[in-house]
Amino acid sequence: MSNIVILTGAGISAESGLETFRAETGLWAQHRVEDVATPEGFAQDPSLVVAFYNKRREQAAKAKPNAAHEALAHLEAAHTGTVLVVTQNVDDLHERAGSRNLIHMHGALNSALCAACDHRWDAPMVMAVGDACLSCGAPSARPDIVWFGEMPYQMDEIFEALGQADIFAAIGTSGNVYPAAGFVAEARRAGARTVEINLELSSVGSQFADALLGPATRTVPDWVAGILND
Ligand code: OAD
Repeated sequence: MSNIVILTGAGISAESGLETFRAETGLWAQHRVEDVATPEGFAQDPSLVVAFYNKRREQAAKAKPNAAHEALAHLEAAHTGTVLVVTQNVDDLHERAGSRNLIHMHGALNSALCAACDHRWDAPMVMAVGDACLSCGAPSARPDIVWFGEMPYQMDEIFEALGQADIFAAIGTSGNVYPAAGFVAEARRAGARTVEINLELSSVGSQFADALLGPATRTVPDWVAGILND
């Protein structure tokens, strides 16, 4: 019975047609992070920020889970130990593929958050600045996205799982954003076998014991088959 923790990033959804952040033509080449992914950017120009996430919500809704998302859902269903997927992605392709033990550490496009009382509800496809909170009524709705400078969600649960991990895999993430980029070090301290699954080695790639390089729709199903055959 082994405990498996899997961190995913934008690369796992790339073959579903969703843009990554740091590719040459990726989201951060098209938008300034400060403008659309910080509390200060939201305070300065909420319409721009809400429109940015409305567009991404629409794109995510049109996208379909790919073979990599499906392989991770199959792993969770078929593995005798625990499987936890911690995603930095705000799309819902993991849950649509069938993953259930899932943490959205950077929030979710399909969720709205009240900046006044922290209540959460299902976001409409098109949010507007000043939408009323469904609980307290304040005109304080915002996308339920963790912006730079904010604390990622469920960190205690994530570190507890990393502390008990036998296998840790990072899939399609560039290792540029902490705390997620530090998970490999934590998993190693716990004695986990570590593997990076990516098109190319990431900036923290040298910290992993193993690497599987190639497109996620090929490498992830192969990796899952290997674990289930072990
Ligand atoms: P990045 O855009 O930084 O990195 C995407 C990674 O996926 C890169 O390492 C690519 O090599 C890899 N990749 C691309 N296509 C792939 C494929 N088909 N198969 C396998 N790997 C592929 O995205 P993240 O690491 O997810 O945060 O970015 C982390 C955080 O930075 C995001 O959650 C977001 C962003 O700023 C916030 O907005 C708070």
